[in-house]
Parts: sequence; structure tokens; C-alpha cells
Amino acid sequence: MIPRMAFLPTPAQSRPATTPRVIVRRMTLDDINQVVDIDHESFSTPWSANAYRFEVTNRDTSHLVVLEMSNDADGAGLRRMLWPFGRRTLPGEVIGYGGCWLITGEAHISTIAIHPAHRGQGLGELLLASMLKHAIRLGGEYSVLEVRESNATAQALYRKYEYTVIGRRKQYYRDNGEDALLMEARPLDSAYYRRIETRLAALSGRVRFDDRFTR
Ligand SMILES: CC(C)(COP(=O)(O)OP(=O)(O)OC[C@H]1O[C@@H](n2cnc3c(N)ncnc32)[C@H](O)[C@@H]1OP(=O)(O)O)[C@@H](O)C(=O)NCCC(=O)NCCS
Repeated sequence: MIPRMAFLPTPAQSRPATTPRVIVRRMTLDDINQVVDIDHESFSTPWSANAYRFEVTNRDTSHLVVLEMSNDADGAGLRRMLWPFGRRTLPGEVIGYGGCWLITGEAHISTIAIHPAHRGQGLGELLLASMLKHAIRLGGEYSVLEVRESNATAQALYRKYEYTVIGRRKQYYRDNGEDALLMEARPLDSAYYRRIETRLAALSGRVRFDDRFTR
């Protein structure tokens, strides 16, 4: 399966000081409908529900994670959860997800997306950091991913986690023939792990999270 690093444009985002509490946990089959909805809002070539079913059950190599709005979000949190058109994000809802294929030391980030109403609050970083921690614990030695050449937001996130461009896949995306940049973070050693922890500690000032994926 081709990892989809296609995307729809991210609108200009304001960045609140804190967000409601979120839970980071492994994706289950019950999450797939919500994940597919976010996928369609985020990518021009979304995965099917069947593709997600395959990934969720293929636990040997595929490691999928979701961000779930916590039940203990307080009143202020609930107000911040109001969507632009008045729809409220409810406790228990999935607001983001990511995937990583881990095969013989390679941690391949296959997908990552945050619901458009929740971008720019540190949640994408939380997902990526959590996946990388998980991969390192399972023996990941380096990480790679493909990203659209035009996706500056995602590239900035990856650079923050020390990915550099190591190649280009010409006309990788079938919808518009855009090139993919191949990015790599290496090595995922104990020093890198500690730098993730430092970044997560800084992030905890902006995002209240409960990481049940890597704990
Ligand atoms: C890419 C994506 C997952 C980032 O998630 P997010 O929650 O919006 O990002 P965060 O708030 O965690 O920001 C993390 C970093 O990303 C970068 N970033 C986030 N929003 C940005 C923006 N509007 N412009 C430039 N850089 C941005 C910054 O480096 C930021 O670090 P900082 O907060 O220290 O500045 C999200 O925009 C998304 O779902 N996009 C659509 C799907 C997609 O393109 N996925 C990636 C495919 S390769």
C-alpha cells in the first residue's frame, strides 16, 4: 500500500495556550468510521475503511494510534471545543490519528492527520512524538516518510523532529502527479529518545494529554 502523504490545504491557524485533555491510544476497529471521516477531510486520496481494517488487524508491522477527546474535559475545554460552525467535539470523539509501519529497524510513518478544527494546537506533534517513542521501544533504528513537496506544514513538523530530505520520488501522487520528498530521521537512538521526551515536556504546557500508547 502506498502511504498517503497527500493533503488538503491547512487554513491559517490561531494557537491557543492550552487545549482540552486528549488521550493517545492504539486505534481499534471501532474507531475506523471516525478516522475515515477525518481522512476524507485531510487527504485528496483517502484510504478506505477496509484498508484501515487491514492495518488495525495487522498488528505485527502496523502500529496505528488515535487521539481521543477525554471525558474529563472541563467547561473551558468544552467551550474551546466548539467547531467553527457551532458543532461541538464531544468527549470520546477521535480528533486525529497516525500510523507507523515497523519493519526490521525502519519506522515508516504511513499517515498522520488532525481534524481540521483542531490543527495548530500541538496535537500533530503529540501524535508523531508518540509514534516515534513507540517505534524506538520496539527496535526502530531510523524513520522515513514521504511528504508532498507542497505540504510545508507537515514538512515543518518533520523538520522539528529532525527529519531531513534524503530523496525525491518523481510524480509519486497519482491525483496530480506531484513529487514526494523522502525524509528521514536517523538514528533513533537513546539520545533521540531523550530529545523527544524533552519536546513532549515542553508540549505539555500547551496540550494536556494522557499517553496510553507508549506508557
Ligand atoms: C500536518 C498536521 C498533522 C500537523 O498537525 P498540527 O496539529 O496542525 O500541528 P502542530 O500544532 O502539532 O504543530 C507542530 C509543528 O508543525 C508545524 N506547523 C503546524 N502548523 C503549521 C502552520 N500552519 N504553518 C507552518 N508550520 C506549522 C510547526 O513546525 C509546528 O511546531 P511549532 O508549534 O513548534 O511551531 C496537520 O496539519 C494535518 O492533519 N494536515 C493534513 C494532513 C497532512 O498533511 N498530513 C501529513 C501528510 S505528510
